[in-house]
Amino acid sequence: MVRRVEILPDLQALVDRAYEEVILLLEDAIAKRGSATFVLAGGGTPKPLYEKLAQSALPWSKIHLFWGDERYVPEDHPDSNYRMAREALIDRITIPWENIHPMPTAGGDPAADAALHAAHISDFFQLLPGEPLQIPQLDVVLLGMGDDGHTASLFPGTEALQVCDALVTVGEKSGQPRLTFTYPLLNQARTVLFMVAGENKQTALQQVFSPDGSNETYPSRAVSAQENLIWLLDSAAGKGIPVQEKQ
Ligand code: 6PG
Repeated sequence: MVRRVEILPDLQALVDRAYEEVILLLEDAIAKRGSATFVLAGGGTPKPLYEKLAQSALPWSKIHLFWGDERYVPEDHPDSNYRMAREALIDRITIPWENIHPMPTAGGDPAADAALHAAHISDFFQLLPGEPLQIPQLDVVLLGMGDDGHTASLFPGTEALQVCDALVTVGEKSGQPRLTFTYPLLNQARTVLFMVAGENKQTALQQVFSPDGSNETYPSRAVSAQENLIWLLDSAAGKGIPVQEKQ
């Protein structure tokens, strides 16, 4: 795995750089395997990236969209990560509905919906459910990071951090349930690309990049990838973080 850290002058430069990377990675996946799986992040940072991708010439019929986590709210709720991506990207492109794989949040039972989505992912990759857990390989996983070091809905000190026998589990933030990909699924990805912006992320980032930080306290530390782990930071967030590329 190659880990690369780039610090961009501002948010727009970060978005432009992320755009270049995502285009390259998705086109490479399609060239090699005929299609690509692209896992979207929630929150606010990626929204301008999605709006920019909507203007691209990507062959969306060959791209499958997933979400790395979802708030346990209806799809049209203002907090929904699916709604944000629908407004910023999906409504602006031509993509077959069967290529869109939102996390189910309408069953009234987060654990059951987590298991339902895990089964959907296994079916999509034509894997056998059950033991031992078969972990599919996603092409591009986009992640953000909170100012507490969480990513997806893997929050500090929560049970979701310990889940290693499922693809999807229930996370929680301040008592509110969320669905989230687990570390095994995230870390099996070919490429994980973090987009982190804002001075409020500086402290957590320094802990994430510290040689002796705690994965339990700063969950983003425990994210890896099979081929490329890319951190794109703006200068406000990345102050003091060593720029690097190491094999
Ligand atoms: C979510 C995201 C979450 C997000 C971080 C950063 O559901 O909120 O998946 O992990 O990426 O909280 O959010 P911002 O980009 O808004 O800072």
